[in-house]
Amino acid sequence: MKDKIAALLTEIEAFVPENADALEAFRLKFMSKKGLIAGLFADFKTVAPEDRKEMGVLLNELKDKAQGRLNQFRQIGEIEKAPIAKPDLTLPAGQFSGGRHPLSIVRNQINSIFKRIGFTISEGPEIEDDFHNFTALNFPPEHPARDMQDTFFISRDPDIALRTHTSSVQVRVMEAGKLPIRIIAPGRVFRNEAISARAHCIFHQIEGLYVDKDVSFADLKQTLFYFAQEFFGAETRIRFRPSYFPFTETSAEMDVSCNICGGSGCNICKHSGWVEIMGCGMVDPNVLEACGIDSSIYSGYAFGMGIERITMMKFQINDLRLFFENDIRFLKQFEAAQ
Ligand code: PHE
Repeated sequence: MKDKIAALLTEIEAFVPENADALEAFRLKFMSKKGLIAGLFADFKTVAPEDRKEMGVLLNELKDKAQGRLNQFRQIGEIEKAPIAKPDLTLPAGQFSGGRHPLSIVRNQINSIFKRIGFTISEGPEIEDDFHNFTALNFPPEHPARDMQDTFFISRDPDIALRTHTSSVQVRVMEAGKLPIRIIAPGRVFRNEAISARAHCIFHQIEGLYVDKDVSFADLKQTLFYFAQEFFGAETRIRFRPSYFPFTETSAEMDVSCNICGGSGCNICKHSGWVEIMGCGMVDPNVLEACGIDSSIYSGYAFGMGIERITMMKFQINDLRLFFENDIRFLKQFEAAQ
């Protein structure tokens, strides 16, 4: 009997079930009422009285071992069968809320300033044809901006390119023919420029267009003055310098008094007290006509500004490349802004 117990003990210790059925077979073989261990207990009465004590201890050990094995593998089976943990919906929310990108923050602020005075938002495609990006905007056929150096062409003949400015949206809105027009158009633009602290081949602009009867340069100035004060602060001053764009006549560049030094001169404004923030002007009658608008009845103004430039001024950021690197240490600084 002693040998039999020893043999069963080895078998039990080596036992590893492959599946639930094997475990059940193990239970039936050893631990059931008619199993081997019950059989040994039944044989106990045949053991010589002087051996009974030792045999009793061995038999109970065997039984405990078998039961232990059974329990051990049953537990693993339970874990495997357990359903996948459900998410705890009672946990507090918003622990890892993100922040907006600084360019989005500034774009939204500009949008809302113009929305308050009746502008609506328009959008156009980033891939444009020559007509909407250049021809309708009065660019002469040999204008250098059409050149490969500035423009990312997708195909030639017909010329399809990534838009080089949001002024293409002006054309699309005017073509649609619903007058009067009072829109702003934020969006991405593309130019084949070397990437540096001050330039990138992808950047963002916001275009403005107002077309109605009797629109004058005074309207343009007043609207942009309102914008500058709303965006940079009530003490902000503006000035206009004569400029040239093919699609505006007269054309100007607008400067705002430096919001860092208040106009007394600093590094940001190169000690001039002024920072240029946009191009603008009266819509050239040729452009109105190209878009099917009668320039003897209607006039308009347009402006376009770079969002990166304005964001750099607002948050005192000195390298434009930071906007595109998505370095979390940079982005985290804007979590509190909205
Ligand atoms: N499209 C011009 C640029 O990208 C900006 C501009 C827009 C100028 C509208 C005048 C009127 O530089």
